[in-house]
Amino acid sequence: MEYGLFKLDKYLKVVDIFSKWAQTVQLFSWGEPILNKSFVEMIRYTSQKPHKIRTITTVNLNATNDEQIKGLLTSNLDALHVSIDGVTQEVYEKYRVGGNLETVLNNLKKLIAAKKLYKSSTKIQWDFIVMKQNEHQIEEAKKMASDFGVPLQIFSAAIHLKKDTFVPIKELMDTYGEWLPDDPRYQTYTEDRTKLKRTMKLCKSPWLETMVNWNGDVFPCSSVHIEEKDRMGNIFEQDFEDIWNGQKYVAARKELLGKPNSVNTICHTCRKK
Ligand SMILES: C[S@@+](CC[C@H](N)C(=O)[O-])C[C@H]1O[C@@H](n2cnc3c(N)ncnc32)[C@H](O)[C@@H]1O
Ligand code: SF4
Repeated sequence: MEYGLFKLDKYLKVVDIFSKWAQTVQLFSWGEPILNKSFVEMIRYTSQKPHKIRTITTVNLNATNDEQIKGLLTSNLDALHVSIDGVTQEVYEKYRVGGNLETVLNNLKKLIAAKKLYKSSTKIQWDFIVMKQNEHQIEEAKKMASDFGVPLQIFSAAIHLKKDTFVPIKELMDTYGEWLPDDPRYQTYTEDRTKLKRTMKLCKSPWLETMVNWNGDVFPCSSVHIEEKDRMGNIFEQDFEDIWNGQKYVAARKELLGKPNSVNTICHTCRKK
């Protein structure tokens, strides 16, 4: 599947479709949301009347400007997470290749100042993904976040992302294992590094959420968005209710419940991982 940018008119159509069901719209996936010139307008349309749907986004904040910052903090956005995985440029740029920590921290300061200026209720949060190169900086990051007056949330790093989502974890360790932290508290995988340290027995995503790509392709969750063959349908070509209650979604749910079903879906593969 090609990468692309959600066009504003198409996005608005999707919000209209979900208006009667959606409680929250998470406006992000694998790219950087603030690169979309219509981003603020998209948030406004979702979070303000008549839709008034809760909105959340996650950004790396390398490329923004004062106008967009003002827009973000006056759009009714509920939560704005900023991914910063390091407190020195050397560590930060190992994962955020081409990123500039000073720019990001300056932009974060501007966001915080704008929140005060516009008396915005948007919750700003610092997200820190723990990896080998930055695990020694967690305490410093916590202190910096506290000085900024924002909460810091720690996440464990995953290596089975994007097209690697369904490659057996054992096979990925040789290439990516070196990214994983030593501290067992931040491990995503079992001690022998062969499986996910799952906290959840049943994935409820096919009952609770759905992911719509820029081109309208619908997936059962945000982990899987690459292959057209894995899509549940396309929201610009079909009625969403037909997708949600269609053969693929129904088969995925049955599979997750351990019930007999006839169509193979991405959830069948994922469940076995
Ligand atoms: C791929 S990012 C894209 C959004 C934005 N550009 C950013 O950097 O946050 C979407 C989400 O994935 C998370 N993420 C990125 N790399 C990760 C990794 N290796 N393991 C776990 N989560 C990761 C980020 O924290 C963010 O919540
Ligand atoms: S692909 Fe996996 S994580 Fe995504 S909805 Fe299906 S079972 Fe859940």
